[in-house]
Amino acid sequence: MSEAVVIAEQFKELYGAEPEGVWAAPGRVNLIGEHTDYNDGFVLPFALPHTTVAAVSRRDDGVLRLHSADAEGGVVELRVDALAPESDKSWTAYPSGVVWALRDAGHAVTGADVHLTSTIPQGAGLSSSHALEVVITLALSDLYGLGLKGWQIARLCQRAENVYVGAPTGIMDQTASACCQAGHALFLDTRDLSQRQIPFDLAAEGMRLLVVDTQVKHAHSDGEYGKRRAGCEKGAALLGVDALRDVPYDGLDAALARLGDEEEVRRLVRHIVTENERVERVVSLLQTGDTRAIGPVLVEGHASLRDDFRISCPELDLVVDTALGAGAVGARMTGGGFGGSAIVLIEAADEGTVTKAVEEAFAAAGFTAPRVFAAVPAAGAHRLV
Ligand code: GLA
Repeated sequence: MSEAVVIAEQFKELYGAEPEGVWAAPGRVNLIGEHTDYNDGFVLPFALPHTTVAAVSRRDDGVLRLHSADAEGGVVELRVDALAPESDKSWTAYPSGVVWALRDAGHAVTGADVHLTSTIPQGAGLSSSHALEVVITLALSDLYGLGLKGWQIARLCQRAENVYVGAPTGIMDQTASACCQAGHALFLDTRDLSQRQIPFDLAAEGMRLLVVDTQVKHAHSDGEYGKRRAGCEKGAALLGVDALRDVPYDGLDAALARLGDEEEVRRLVRHIVTENERVERVVSLLQTGDTRAIGPVLVEGHASLRDDFRISCPELDLVVDTALGAGAVGARMTGGGFGGSAIVLIEAADEGTVTKAVEEAFAAAGFTAPRVFAAVPAAGAHRLV
């Protein structure tokens, strides 16, 4: 039985009727371009085959009922006209946040019954919460005939997250979940959300990309992410630009000189400006078919996040160092940092050796065993039935 049929049956048991439809939205990994998205910069994520699936029906009585197979506590019942920013600290803040954002944008969403299930590992830096936002927004857009485009869904989800949930994140993850295409990475300019689908077919080249979930849980609302964001904004203000995206790579030395003894800000600026250049370099290499050559760029990106942006952790560094020592072509942390996942680019034939080396290094260091899987770029959000 397909996933959609199973979740539709569960919906019927919960709510007593068939759902009007079933939708799926994926998690993501970011190939390169970290913390650039709230600096109007470039990112290059791709969608994972892991998805959050939602069975949804409309209601016209102002009631929003939410249920997740992955959370305790049964059905949560809310009133759409009583939804208020930062009033909810549980998982339901993500789906109710997008209902709030849709209504706040003037869309007449009058309620819904929702049943969710997800195969995206939670707290692993793979965007499970963004997939949850996107799947609900797409479902409500379809059901209420709003005709929202992928980038509009992403903007609404970001607003839900920034204002309603209260996490100061950028727009990469929501756009990745809404707009990615199978077999491609998404080259996104976060200033205007213009996009290019970059073919990324590792299997055809005898390569593979491993995702290593360190099992170290990260949280974005706990302060460190917001501090980096505030530091970047300070850098832009000191340099007199709208966003750090406006500092050109060949003007970096001059910009750093102008920042004088603002050492902390200098490091943040250096990361953002060099990271934007790395995204562009990876895109050109992929377009010329030189996939192996992106390896060293990924490694440079990791060093910049570790030493300049300072958001790595011992577990992420251990994945990168061990994988490279075992023959990986490239490796870096991915996502917001302070835990979560790393990506490792390898020759397909090295999968066993590299995985074993990482697992053994974690055991020797006394760390919780990591979860390792190979990722193939999958489709963005879509309707299943
Ligand atoms: C998290 C945020 C994104 C982005 C990344 C870092 O995943 O949700 O907006 O800032 O961190 O690149």
